[in-house]
Amino acid sequence: MSQSLATVAYLGAAILFILSLGGLSNPETSRRGNLFGMVGMALAVLATVFGPHVGQSGIAWIVMALVLGGGIGLYAAKVVKMTQMPELVALMHSLVGLAACLVGFASYADTSHQLQGAEKIIHEVEIYIGILIGAVTFSGSLIAFGKLKGTIGGKPLLLPARHWLNLLALLVVVWFGREFLRADTVEQGMLPLAVMTVIALLFGIHMVMAIGGADMPVVVSMLNSYSGWAAAATGFMLSNDLLIVTGALVGSSGAILSYIMCQAMNRNFISVIAGGFGAGAPAKKSGDAAAAEPQGEAVPVSASDTAAMLRDAKSVIIVPGYGMAVAQAQHTVNDITRTLREQGVDVRFAIHPVAGRMPGHMNVLLAEAKLPYDIVMEMDEINEDFPQADVAMVIGANDIVNPAAQDDPDSPIAGMPVLEVWKAKQSIVMKRSMASGYAGVDNPLFYKDNNRMLFGDAKKMLDEVLAALKR
Ligand code: TAP
Repeated sequence: MSQSLATVAYLGAAILFILSLGGLSNPETSRRGNLFGMVGMALAVLATVFGPHVGQSGIAWIVMALVLGGGIGLYAAKVVKMTQMPELVALMHSLVGLAACLVGFASYADTSHQLQGAEKIIHEVEIYIGILIGAVTFSGSLIAFGKLKGTIGGKPLLLPARHWLNLLALLVVVWFGREFLRADTVEQGMLPLAVMTVIALLFGIHMVMAIGGADMPVVVSMLNSYSGWAAAATGFMLSNDLLIVTGALVGSSGAILSYIMCQAMNRNFISVIAGGFGAGAPAKKSGDAAAAEPQGEAVPVSASDTAAMLRDAKSVIIVPGYGMAVAQAQHTVNDITRTLREQGVDVRFAIHPVAGRMPGHMNVLLAEAKLPYDIVMEMDEINEDFPQADVAMVIGANDIVNPAAQDDPDSPIAGMPVLEVWKAKQSIVMKRSMASGYAGVDNPLFYKDNNRMLFGDAKKMLDEVLAALKR
């Protein structure tokens, strides 16, 4: 394939990626967005493999890598459960970071360029920055993977003088950058490059370890953004325009998502990155703090009584959370919604921006179950309507409906906007036990006079509610 044909293909792929991002911004157009992305990626891969920069011998290597990587990707996509998607995404981000590091070292070791003067310096700066971003993305994403999987606790690790440690790391990285650029030979340059890589890896670990459970959504979208910048840096190192454009698209859309997440959580972006949010007292047990412990008694309710309350209601708001994803209860939720609407009950859904474990998690599940989009409301659209609702039914959600975010300034989730289900005439929380949610915080909602607890697996309980509704 000639250079000009490859450039046209790259341009087409870049346009398709932009259309894909546009499509993904709305559940109704997301399938089309995915299709654009897939066609764009196929075009990009073909134009690269058959482009002017790959020789005959290179194609064999690429095909081998495609078969291996594609096989692993296909297997992962087939076996991964919906609830494991956030971990998988974090793992994918780490691979982008690792690729940037490996390409950086390979590019530096490759002396066939014979670059001189300013060109050489620019290339080395690209390598240094590319490896720096790649290493932070790699180790940070691995820690995020552990935190999302639950193998690493959600409690933030707050080292003493952590901000000074971060500043020191930055200064050391700058100093070694100077040493790297001053090196006359590849052998001399490798040492500062390797030292900087180790520091960047440690920085990535420290950065994500210092973030509290409830702030993980911001970190996930931030690492998404970093993986984009790492890809763009790889594009600079390889002089591949499409990789630069694609990386910049991912980097900037991830940054916008991080900003939206911060707004949704009422957090300051810099403070989240600096760490320590979510570090407040976990569950207070004794002494002065005991006053903040939830007061009252949690009153259980049966599935048939829940069905009766729903049937008698004029207006119902359903709040889905992570537990609905675990139980895979979305299809039963759809059946219940249809049954209630047929019986004249007004049913709407309230979606918190960080419900579940990934951005848009609930929207994806509800769309999969084919719920009408027009009854699925964002938090800002529906939060004021809870006082008029007869029943607010919470399905496997916890942190996102925790009144402590508003009432307890010492709570780790203080200030986070929450869905005000307790303002409905009656709230029903469906979960298996009194256990806390992702942020590890007690929920006073469970003990409110107008709340009832429907204990059990969400799918099982909803099946029982549906059966009672149909009787
Ligand atoms: P959580 O606060 O994690 O609460 C989910 C609840 O579901 C748990 O308390 C659990 O209680 C219940 N549950 C689990 N399996 C269940 C099942 N099979 N049947 C019924 N209930 C079940 O979830 P949330 O309210 O959706 O809030 C999301 C949290 O995750 C926030 O803290 C958020 O910051 C964090 N987070 C979000 C994201 C994104 S981007 N959305 C990413 C990372 C972290 P039981 O064990 O008692 O059943």
